[in-house]
Amino acid sequence: MIVDDLVRTPAAVAEAERWTAHNYHPLPVVISSAEGAWVTDIDGKRYLDCLAGYSALNFGHRHPALIAAAHAQLDRLTLTSRAFVHDQFATFCRELASLCGKDLVLPMNTGAEAVETAVKVARKWGYKVKGVPHDKATIIVAEGNFHGRTTTIVSFSTDPDARADFGPYTPGFKVVPYGDLAALAEAVDETTVAVLLEPIQGEQGVIVPPEGYLPGVRALCSANDVLLVADEIQSGLGRTGQTFACDHEGVVPDMYVLGKALGGGIVPVSAVAADQDVLGVLRPGEHGSTFGGNPLACAVATEVVGLLKTGDFQRRSAELGARLHAELGALVGHGLLAVRGRGLWAGIDIDPALMTGREACERLAARGVLAKDTHGSTIRLAPPLVVEPAELDWAVEQLAAIL
Ligand SMILES: Cc1ncc(COP(=O)(O)O)c(C=O)c1O
Repeated sequence: MIVDDLVRTPAAVAEAERWTAHNYHPLPVVISSAEGAWVTDIDGKRYLDCLAGYSALNFGHRHPALIAAAHAQLDRLTLTSRAFVHDQFATFCRELASLCGKDLVLPMNTGAEAVETAVKVARKWGYKVKGVPHDKATIIVAEGNFHGRTTTIVSFSTDPDARADFGPYTPGFKVVPYGDLAALAEAVDETTVAVLLEPIQGEQGVIVPPEGYLPGVRALCSANDVLLVADEIQSGLGRTGQTFACDHEGVVPDMYVLGKALGGGIVPVSAVAADQDVLGVLRPGEHGSTFGGNPLACAVATEVVGLLKTGDFQRRSAELGARLHAELGALVGHGLLAVRGRGLWAGIDIDPALMTGREACERLAARGVLAKDTHGSTIRLAPPLVVEPAELDWAVEQLAAIL
């Protein structure tokens, strides 16, 4: 570890390592408080958070309106289960449905659960509406996808770390290259019920597909009676400078899959949103979750939707994103090989001759910037959308300095 002025951190990191499964490889930073775009560790060192909980913290840490909504709800009602209706439920579902321009919403908790929900709904829609023979439904996904960690979802992952030792795998998925419309067209047949895609592949390194790809996928799905399911768990809710990444090309999917920022960085909230002809296929007992759509989650997420409806965060992401991409672009050829992304979201490829992504993140942390590597020498930058322009400039200066 490069940081050497930290006193309590090494012991706290060792303690965490001692008591947990090693399914993560965190940077040696032990955070104890946060506000807006900044976090503070147990040694009192401050860091600009340029990961923002993988976009779960789009509105920053402890946004006052979200914290107020959570506090108010904590003092009234936290959990009923869906065995009963509670007074926050309809409001949340109505507001989110209206943000998405869809008839219905089905709330869950984690992103992976929402993806599982979309898979089940698409399959049932295939059997009941499209008329696919029973147990024959296929869903087409993209190489390099990341949709979560359940056994079904890792069944169609192309990342060996995510998939290798977790078989036997769930059948019914076809994998095609991301961004390749011809390959997708080739893969569609009468058993295809859905195409499930991230409009920008986050985990893969913020991969933006070629222009025209998403509208092409939309047209292909419409022509073949196939549902387009957009996993906007990481790309949605303001991150790219629009409410949804699909909006950049005017694409409206049949189903939105949402999570992360929907919970305001306070509670896990995920959901799928679709029209009646799609989500209407579910009947009582076929799907659910004890905590899905709980009062606390609904109260916070309703406030999240309210923040998004102002358009302020989308505008901020677009404006600051232009600034970020211009500054990062100037580093290409000076330690960076490439920069990709939209809005306040960037995947940057560091010249592997200089250092790995992990080393770069450690050096950035030593300078007070938190970011996370993915796949070799690629780093994702996704600061909270409340970050100030000067803070963003400062973060890029730190990057330039380590390069
Ligand atoms: C696009 C996408 N889908 C699904 C997930 C899974 O979400 P969760 O970790 O909440 O299960 C993620 C998480 O990174 C994601 O980026």
